[in-house]
Amino acid sequence: MSDPKLDAYWMPFTANRQFKKSPRLITGADGMYFTDDKGRQVLDSIAGLWCVNAGHNRPRIVQAIQNQAAELDFAPPFQMAHPKAFELATRLAAIAPEGLNKVFFTNSGSESVETALKMAIAYHRVRGEGARTRLIGRERGYHGVNFGGISVGGMVANRKMFGSMLGGVDHIRHTHDPARNAFTVGQPAHGAEFAEDLERLIALHDASTIAAVIVEPVAGSTGVLIPPQGYLQRLREICDKHGILLIFDEVITGFGRTGQPFAAQTFGVTPDLMTVAKGLTNGSVPMGAVFAKQGIYDTFMNGPEHLIEFFHGYTYSAHPLACAAALGTLDTYAEDGLLTRATQMQAMFAEALHSLRGEPHVIDVRNIGLVGGIELAGLPGEPAKRAFNIFLDCWDKGVLIRTTGDTIAMSPPLIIEPQHIEHIIATVRAALRRAA
Ligand SMILES: Cc1ncc(COP(=O)(O)O)c(C=O)c1O
Repeated sequence: MSDPKLDAYWMPFTANRQFKKSPRLITGADGMYFTDDKGRQVLDSIAGLWCVNAGHNRPRIVQAIQNQAAELDFAPPFQMAHPKAFELATRLAAIAPEGLNKVFFTNSGSESVETALKMAIAYHRVRGEGARTRLIGRERGYHGVNFGGISVGGMVANRKMFGSMLGGVDHIRHTHDPARNAFTVGQPAHGAEFAEDLERLIALHDASTIAAVIVEPVAGSTGVLIPPQGYLQRLREICDKHGILLIFDEVITGFGRTGQPFAAQTFGVTPDLMTVAKGLTNGSVPMGAVFAKQGIYDTFMNGPEHLIEFFHGYTYSAHPLACAAALGTLDTYAEDGLLTRATQMQAMFAEALHSLRGEPHVIDVRNIGLVGGIELAGLPGEPAKRAFNIFLDCWDKGVLIRTTGDTIAMSPPLIIEPQHIEHIIATVRAALRRAA
């Protein structure tokens, strides 16, 4: 029997009936830990949902939000602005990959993706190549849940229920290649050639119809897929050769996850547009952003000066609370050196993760920075069930993990210490041994 108080809330991306029979309620959080409604401390191995990169309840962020709420609750973002929006954009441009110095604000990763896709199509139109409307995504990609994002995305469950989606979209193949790359530490050696699949689509559709290619530098929601060595470089070269914009969706990789502020810097490949959210405010207030190259912005800045150049935006773009939270977040990241801390922790994290090789059901382990994927053999005929059972077991034992399909995906707060890593891995190891 489920509690009637839990009835009304239709929970997102949740097995509602299972949850309501056996709820997992979080009532507080501090540092590396959640507190649940029974007063238990639960170690957070996933930074909330890849977003609380500085750990929970950070004083500067809390203070910034509280002060802002009392000072300015809202300012219209269309034809108006407030000072912190400019201050934040300037601070973000300063840590962004080279040349990505224009910042457009949204409220989520999904909205950032829609914004970037629209920017790409409109950009080509403004510069006189209006036939470039086609968008290319990648199999197994995740770009949020709005229609543009699920269209360029490549996760079957997120697509199959929702009709025909956007027209004019195609997908390059994914990079997952366990036969050659299983249990690789860091970037896999094999698979740069998967980028050539873009040439196949260009040959099919012609470059003159293609606006942009969007990929996650590290695919997270589809089970932690690390880009093979040379793969992103090759995508960049092919896009350049054909005048196609390259969009990196850095919603999970942004803000220190891979050891540099952005994965573009970790992998040494600069996109034309870059989407972020999550770590931008340390998960505290919803906010996303799109970074654009100067030349893209400049292309829009033509025509009569009193006219709007880009017909797009949200009521809550650059919301004052979100801007204040993001500024407090950037201060926290800077003070604690968090945007590069994953480089110090990644060797130990990788060793701990890869020590699970040989445990029951483990068929691959993947890692980069403070991201880890542990892929399990699924239960025959019941995909995702084995991993879900392990998730429940770990929660029971006081560690929050996350699973996607039959992969355990880890993305701990960047403040993680060795004893937390040991505790997480020991808990997962014991759960694997118990699991059917
Ligand atoms: C790569 C990527 N893009 C977009 C999104 C969507 O972000 P949001 O849930 O904030 O809309 C996510 C969320 O996990 C993501 O991982």
